[in-house]
Amino acid sequence: MATNITFTMLKPDAVENNYIGAILQKINEAGFRVKAMKYTRLSTETAGQFYAVHAARPFYNDLVSYMSSGPIVAVILEKENAVADFRDLIGATDPAKAAPGTIRALFAKSIEANAVHGSDSDENAAIEGSFFFSALEQF
Ligand code: CMP
Repeated sequence: MATNITFTMLKPDAVENNYIGAILQKINEAGFRVKAMKYTRLSTETAGQFYAVHAARPFYNDLVSYMSSGPIVAVILEKENAVADFRDLIGATDPAKAAPGTIRALFAKSIEANAVHGSDSDENAAIEGSFFFSALEQF
């Protein structure tokens, strides 16, 4: 059964373009509640750890360098059916293929600088949320 938690990161392009407020508004309007939120910056080491599952992919090095190039916002979100509903809200990984009105269609620049991350499973949502927040920081 689906849990009610997912994890997102507003990526360096979203922060650089001043889209934090607009993206969080879309997320709230879609019915998600913020359970934890942190404005921070990944080092190449921590970005590499976060995306370790993609270590064998050709885009991994560029992704790690990009994700550590500027500040990000890490957020734990709550909503019924959170993982699937959030992936619908953000749209396809490649913004050129994202459905109109989705967050990536509205705010992303490229497949790499695609504005937001969204967990792909309940298990990864828990792992990714714990990467940034202790249990005591998740309200
Ligand atoms: P995200 O959902 O955060 O998960 C992995 C990230 O790798 C993805 O978003 C993109 O930002 C990035 N990426 C870069 N190139 C590709 C690619 N060709 N296919 C999938 N993801 C890519």
